[in-house]
Amino acid sequence: MPLPKAELHLHIEGTLEPELAFELAARNGVKLPYADTGELRAAYAFQDLQSFLNLYYELMAVLRTERDFEDLANAYLARAAAQGVRHAEIFFDPQAHTARGVDLGTVVEGLWRALGHSEQNHGVSTQLIMCFLRDESAESAMETLEAARPYLDRITGVGLDSAEVGHPPVKFREVYEAAAALGLRRVAHAGEEGPPEYITEALDVLGVERVDHGLRCMEDPALVERLVRERIPLTLCPLSNVRLRAVDTLEAHPLPAMLDAGLLCTVNSDDPAYFGGYAGDNFDAVRASLGLGEERLRELARNSFLASFLEHDEERRAR
Ligand code: ADE
Ligand code: ZN
Repeated sequence: MPLPKAELHLHIEGTLEPELAFELAARNGVKLPYADTGELRAAYAFQDLQSFLNLYYELMAVLRTERDFEDLANAYLARAAAQGVRHAEIFFDPQAHTARGVDLGTVVEGLWRALGHSEQNHGVSTQLIMCFLRDESAESAMETLEAARPYLDRITGVGLDSAEVGHPPVKFREVYEAAAALGLRRVAHAGEEGPPEYITEALDVLGVERVDHGLRCMEDPALVERLVRERIPLTLCPLSNVRLRAVDTLEAHPLPAMLDAGLLCTVNSDDPAYFGGYAGDNFDAVRASLGLGEERLRELARNSFLASFLEHDEERRAR
């Protein structure tokens, strides 16, 4: 029985497995520049975040209809459930779809066709987090937030993703202020490839409650102390970090040192179709390669619920 856990860092577009990509390409008459799933998989040798993002955005061409988004989400939820995920806070990238002429309603309604029945069908509760692409303009992010108004009953929060370096959090100050005024929760990717200063800025300028990745906080002891003191959760993604070369090897991942420092770490899959595994696979990988004992693994699973946006009382959070 896999440990029950919450998944807090998961891009739904990053769950597009090669088999489903080809199925949707055929259904929608989209020509992919790969002969078959083998050739596509062979392209999954990434040098860094950008080399992954290029393929990630390219493959989204197959996602066109509500049914496509529904099928994508159902495939993820079935896999996640089989690996012990009981709750998933799911990112999506609206601008990557609207830029291709797929409107926001198609994306949200399509995802909702799966998420709305996820508890009954998969035993997984869900929330949606709408991410802004940080390599697009702040104006485009604000337009996206405006366009999302009709769907806000289905969206829990906002996030920030895509190419990090050169796109500091401060660029999105106004859109995060507007999101907060709408009652949305706030998270942001920071310190994946970008410097520790981006983590501090995400906290101070964007008011994020949780940091996605946050890996590079370890370069700044004062920041680590603050994250511990303020109990800011970090959503780490070990297999992603290896594939995108944020760490040299899994054995060199700082997760044990981060836990020893008292950081509220969680383990997640990021883009599991591209990085070699879902949430349970990430747990298995850190168990095997980092020598984490059962107590540490249970702590990680417990942290995932504490760090989630599920309702829980302050007493549990403080434990
Ligand atoms: N979009 C999808 N996966 C991402 C990641 N790991 N970092 C930034 N943006 C992303
Ligand atoms: Zn991510």
